[in-house]
Amino acid sequence: MPDMLHGRHIVLTAGPTLEPIDPVRFISNRSSGKQGYAIATALAALGARVTLISGPTALNDPANVETIRVETALEMLAAVETALPADVFIGVAAVSDWRPASRADKKLKLDKSDFCALPLTENPDILKTISNHADMRPDLVIGFAAETHDIIEHARGKLQRKGCDGIIANDVSGDVMGGDNNQVTWVTASQTDNWPSESKVEVAARIARQISQTIATTCNEDTPT
Ligand code: C5P
Repeated sequence: MPDMLHGRHIVLTAGPTLEPIDPVRFISNRSSGKQGYAIATALAALGARVTLISGPTALNDPANVETIRVETALEMLAAVETALPADVFIGVAAVSDWRPASRADKKLKLDKSDFCALPLTENPDILKTISNHADMRPDLVIGFAAETHDIIEHARGKLQRKGCDGIIANDVSGDVMGGDNNQVTWVTASQTDNWPSESKVEVAARIARQISQTIATTCNEDTPT
């Protein structure tokens, strides 16, 4: 049904974050944003109002999706909180766990001995923050877990630690980062569903259907955001 998510507001993060060291250098990762953008598109196709908070990617804004571009994890968290309230939050972004403790105004020079040890500070955990939000926790909060081994065990641990309702566990032992295919397992307190290896677009459609089924059975249909 094309309008299964009509009236629902879904906020999701995608892509990497970029944490500046100085005007020309940064810490980031290889996330392409492809899976998150495909999920945003699939959710919009089911009738949801979708707000995509994206780190820097080479992708065009998806059609029918409000896309907000950010760079850092701090900016990403602020944009997510501004986008609330929502019925569903999905954390797909590969958020950098660390950022440089300070950002130099001028390009750092190699002869500066302090540049050899770059002081870092921890970034906020966006998924955990939204899962534990005091007044605006979405009814359904879903995270991703990219793992190379012991995938289900790690996903279950993450479900507990982050306080979210579901984890989409992602086998990244192959060429998933930047590639077009993906194999995921849908993990909740009561479910462990191993889905087939498919294109990221097909995985996104499956995730969108699963989200719409879950929200229909667990959330009050009369009060969409
Ligand atoms: O802790 P880890 O990075 O393995 O967890 C992955 C999940 O947590 C993803 O859903 C990711 O978007 C989210 N996350 C986050 N903020 C962080 C780190 C991870 O939202 N600082």
